[in-house]
Order: sequence, then C-alpha cells, then structure tokens
Amino acid sequence: MRPAFGVGRHCPGSDPRTLALLPLVALVLACSLCARSQERADGRSASKDKSSREQSPPAQPIPFSHKKHASTAGIGCDFCHHNPEPGNDMSIPTAGECMTCHSEVAVDKEAIRQLARFAKSNQPIPWVRVYSVPAFVFWSHRTHAEAKIVCAACHGEIAQMDQTTRATSVTTMGGCVACHKRNEVTTGCQSCHENQSSKLMR
Ligand code: HEC
Ligand code: HEC
Ligand code: HEC
Ligand code: HEC
Ligand code: HEC
Repeated sequence: MRPAFGVGRHCPGSDPRTLALLPLVALVLACSLCARSQERADGRSASKDKSSREQSPPAQPIPFSHKKHASTAGIGCDFCHHNPEPGNDMSIPTAGECMTCHSEVAVDKEAIRQLARFAKSNQPIPWVRVYSVPAFVFWSHRTHAEAKIVCAACHGEIAQMDQTTRATSVTTMGGCVACHKRNEVTTGCQSCHENQSSKLMR
C-alpha cells in the first residue's frame, strides 16, 4: 500500500536553466547508472514490489525503541530530531544528550550501561542508517517541513516501532516523483539532480 501523501500545492513553474543543463544532467546520471546498476539492483526492485519494500530493520548498536520513547513516554520527535542549518538533514541525539534522562532512568539496564560508555568515551553511537538517498540527489528536510508535510507521510508510524524500519519508498526516485506529481510540484530532472550538474560545470 502506498503511504498517504496528501498536501495540495500549486505548480511553482519550471526553471529555464533546466533545459540548458538537461543533456549534461542526463549524461552524468547515465554514467552513474552504469557504475551503480549492479549494486542498486535490489533497491530498485524493492521500490516496485510492495512486499519487499518493507525492509527488515537493521541491527543497531543499542536497542533503541521509538515506541518506548515517542509513544509510551510521549517524547515529541522534535525533542530529539532538530533541523540545523542549512536544513538538509535531521540530527540524531548524541549519547551525551541521551544521558540527560539516562543518568537517572533505567540506569541498571545493560543497554543503558552501554549507552553510558559511549557518552563517557565521547564516541558517536554507530547507528545504522534506515533511510538514505545517494549524494547525487538534492534533498532538503527544510523544504518539505515548510510545505507542512508530517514526518509520518515519509517515514510511516515510527512512534509505534520497537525497531526503526524502512516503511515507505520515499528514498527511491519513484517515491519522490509520485508525491511531487500528486501535489503538482516540479518533476524536472534538475530540481533533484542539480548538485551533480553544477559540480561538473566547474
Ligand atoms: C526525555 C527522556 C529520555 C531521553 C532523552 C532518552 N530516553 Fe531512553 N528511555 C526513557 C524512558 C522513560 C524509558 C523507559 C524506561 C523504563 O521502561 O523503565 C527509556 C528507555 C530506554 C531504553 C530501554 C532500557 C531497557 O532495557 O529497558 C533504551 C535502550 C534507551 N531508552 C535508549 C535511549 C537512547 C539511545 C537515547 C538517546 C538517543 C535515549 N534513550 C534518550 C527516557 C529517555
Ligand atoms: C528519545 C529520542 C528520540 C525521539 C523522541 C524520536 N527519535 Fe527518531 N531516532 C532516534 C535515534 C537514537 C535514532 C537512531 C536509531 C534508530 O534508527 O532507531 C532515530 C532514528 C530515526 C529515523 C531513522 C533515521 C535513519 O537512519 O534514516 C527516523 C526517520 C526518525 N528517527 C524519526 C522520528 C520521528 C518521526 C519521531 C517522532 C514520532 C522520532 N523519530 C522520535 C531518537 C529519537
Ligand atoms: C518528504 C519526505 C520526508 C519528510 C516529510 C520527513 N523526512 Fe526524514 N528523511 C527523508 C529522506 C528522503 C531521508 C534520507 C535523507 C538523506 O539520505 O540525506 C530522511 C532521513 C531522515 C533522518 C536521518 C538523518 C538525515 O537527515 O539524513 C532522520 C532522523 C529523519 N529523516 C527524521 C525526520 C523527522 C523527525 C521528520 C519530521 C519532522 C522527517 N524526517 C520528515 C524524507 C522525509
Ligand atoms: C510526501 C510528498 C513528497 C515527497 C515524498 C517528496 N517531496 Fe519533494 N516536495 C514536496 C512538496 C509539496 C514540495 C513543494 C515545497 C514548496 O514549494 O514549498 C517539494 C519540493 C521539493 C524540492 C524543491 C523543488 C523546487 O524547485 O521548488 C525538491 C528539490 C524536492 N522536493 C526533492 C525531493 C526528493 C529528492 C524527494 C525524495 C527523496 C522528495 N522531494 C520527496 C513533496 C514531497
Ligand atoms: C523529485 C526528485 C527527483 C526527480 C524530479 C528526478 N529524480 Fe532521478 N533520482 C531521484 C532519487 C531519489 C534517486 C535515487 C534513487 C535510488 O537510489 O533508488 C534518483 C536516481 C536517478 C538515476 C540513477 C538511478 C540508479 O539506479 O542509480 C537516474 C539516471 C535519474 N535519477 C535520472 C533522472 C532523470 C533523467 C530525471 C528527469 C526526467 C529525474 N531523475 C528526476 C530523485 C529524482
């Protein structure tokens, strides 16, 4: 089942630069396609096949549960995930930030002892990424937050998950473009692949 994307938008119009850069963008993308076709074969079939799109969750260094935090304890997403400048990425709390609660909460649990060791040694927790898009895709959380799209539209019902699992096809080109079409937002190649072409222009 497709996730429910439902934001009504006006078409922002297309940029004349798009036409000029189109052949270049296509060339760059075609090269990247050849080089990556092998490694990406799985990801692409997963986006078409609804049964394989629901990935099994990756094993994480600490058994963090969104359900315990966001649902049972009622902690808001924005308590832990910020959108620092320039707004492309969301942050993930450091072990030190987790310890603002866990210096007192559940301190006798093995997972929290482990967390305390990361905090004490100032080591980043090596979380395994659940959602990611390749570097040649221009992506910004800020643009989408300003369009008032809720987290769940792209990430599913994370607050109900004991293990963070990829629940939508939002990291595939088809997933992006489908929502843009529904909302009458640009589907011009350059709007999502702009960075790559400007790199080549230098
Ligand atoms: C605002 C307070 C708060 C913050 C911040 C917080 N937690 Fe928790 N955490 C809790 C509460 C409350 C529980 C549930 C405790 C219980 O069930 O006794 C919990 C439970 C846990 C557990 C389960 C412990 C067990 O074995 O029962 C883990 C693991 C955990 N948190 C990891 C983290 C990590 C990692 C972070 C930082 C990303 C974090 N927590 C940030 C409040 C917090
Ligand atoms: C207590 C802190 C905390 C709260 C509250 C919290 N998160 Fe998280 N979130 C984390 C941590 C730690 C990770 C990395 C571990 C993981 O993937 O489970 C994470 C991972 C994620 C990821 C996957 C990132 C990736 O690897 O691609 C998404 C998406 C996400 N959170 C969304 C949300 C949403 C939406 C909410 C509110 C419903 C929320 N989070 C509430 C701490 C939190
Ligand atoms: C329009 C779709 C969309 C919306 C809305 C959205 N995300 Fe994401 N999110 C993504 C994509 C795509 C990625 C992978 C980005 C990458 O690889 O850089 C991602 C990655 C993440 C990550 C991993 C760190 C990062 O930035 O790469 C976290 C954490 C996260 N999202 C949390 C949230 C939270 C919390 C909200 C709501 C405030 C939210 N997202 C809203 C699509 C979305
Ligand atoms: C849930 C719906 C939804 C999904 C999924 C989505 N977008 Fe968007 N996107 C929007 C909306 C709505 C806007 C318009 C924001 C505005 O104009 O204020 C937008 C705007 C953009 C823009 C700015 C376009 C411009 O020229 O103004 C870029 C770039 C973009 N999205 C990239 C992506 C990428 C890359 C993905 C997939 C990783 C993605 N989007 C997934 C709804 C979505
Ligand atoms: C709304 C955003 C968006 C638009 C518009 C868009 N793309 Fe993409 N494109 C993506 C994302 C996200 C990926 C990465 C997909 C993945 O990793 O599965 C991608 C990947 C690609 C790839 C590499 C595929 C692979 O498997 O490595 C090519 C080639 C490509 N796009 C060409 C185009 C062309 C040509 C256009 C214009 C007709 C276009 N894209 C428009 C988001 C977009």
